[in-house]
Amino acid sequence: MNEADSEDIAAAFRRRGYSLTDDLKKADAVVVNTCTVRQRAEDKAISQIGRLRVWKEKKPEGKIFVVGCAAQKLGEKNIKGRFGFVDEVVGAKSIERFEDSLIAQLGPTPESETAHQNLFRSPRTAYVTIMRGCSLGCSYCIVPAVRGPAVFLSPEAVLADAADKLAAGAQEIVLLGQTVNSYKHGRTTFSELLKKALALPGLERLRFMSPHPLYFDKAFLELLAAEPRLARYIHLPVQSGSDRILKLMRRGYTRGQYLELIGRLRASAPGLAVSTDFIVGYPGETEKDFEDTLTLVREGRFSLAYCFKYSPRTDKPEMATDIGEAEMEARLEKLLAAVKENSRLVLDERIGKIVEVLFETENYGRSSENFAVRVKAGGTPGKTASVQITGAAKNTLNGKLL
Ligand code: 5AD
Ligand code: SF4
Repeated sequence: MNEADSEDIAAAFRRRGYSLTDDLKKADAVVVNTCTVRQRAEDKAISQIGRLRVWKEKKPEGKIFVVGCAAQKLGEKNIKGRFGFVDEVVGAKSIERFEDSLIAQLGPTPESETAHQNLFRSPRTAYVTIMRGCSLGCSYCIVPAVRGPAVFLSPEAVLADAADKLAAGAQEIVLLGQTVNSYKHGRTTFSELLKKALALPGLERLRFMSPHPLYFDKAFLELLAAEPRLARYIHLPVQSGSDRILKLMRRGYTRGQYLELIGRLRASAPGLAVSTDFIVGYPGETEKDFEDTLTLVREGRFSLAYCFKYSPRTDKPEMATDIGEAEMEARLEKLLAAVKENSRLVLDERIGKIVEVLFETENYGRSSENFAVRVKAGGTPGKTASVQITGAAKNTLNGKLL
């Protein structure tokens, strides 16, 4: 989400004739796009802003924009109070109006072509935001407070954005939202939106991020079975393997329901890769709860899992960390080791299989399951081709073109 916002912000600058630079000395403006999902992200943002003090002293005409979730959480007054040299603060809730802040600082917008540019992904892939905010209330999560309740973009706006990005050279679209599969606009459901996107010319592959287990329905399972251009990869955050903790987190499903769901997804799309997110050390997490998370790694056959230490996002005493830093670190290490070992098994299982690879260069691409795949030569950049997997190296599959 933040990467997509950063790209939109960069595009707004490009429309005014600016270009990106890695060299702070050359920059006329600096945008700090902040995150606050965990305290560490917020702390990083703050120190990043602090470091700009010297830059502004040397270049008083330079503009500093602080945007995003930490900007929303801390507020303009607080940020400008601490860092008087910041020119504009644009919170996550008003990020679509970033252009107004640009106009306020730099004058009216000149007429020019849209100038979207991928900053984080290969030029083959483009992000398309389909919703903002989140209307769920997971107990540990700050997103609904800083981004507000779910708001869905119209199908027309989504499709126009996707069509522009395809016309500009992308072959793969990633639809984005906090609970992306809860999409509903008028009569258009998530599956209907996917179908419309799949009809766009030039689209080779469609992904989405991040779905929530509560919102996969029969229509989606049928579409997944019928449409091979829908990626054989789903990132589906589970957070914990313990029913007791899942309930405290207010996730709305049990371990059994989650496993049953990924079973159904895999039945619809054989070979489907599933990755996930885990939080360790949620308040009250016992050794037994943690063991349940460890065993879920193997049982879920996740190709990959992002593991986070619980980070309190409120001052409520019952939401404070209670296992201590050493135990938190120990659990994280154990979980990471289990994930690594399991990923190895999942990669090895793929040997001998045939996968569809969207090539980025003539010898490198990504499979529909989101594995990095290397072949000796012969791939056509921007096109998909079938590859038989011959071996698994570190996080990468090797194969031969069929
Ligand atoms: N502490 C730790 N991890 C968190 N996440 C969200 N909120 C917190 C928190 N307070 C993780 C979840 C989510 C991912 C984006 O960040 O695992 O899926
Ligand atoms: Fe946060 Fe995701 Fe839960 Fe929404 S669904 S509250 S964004 S963890």
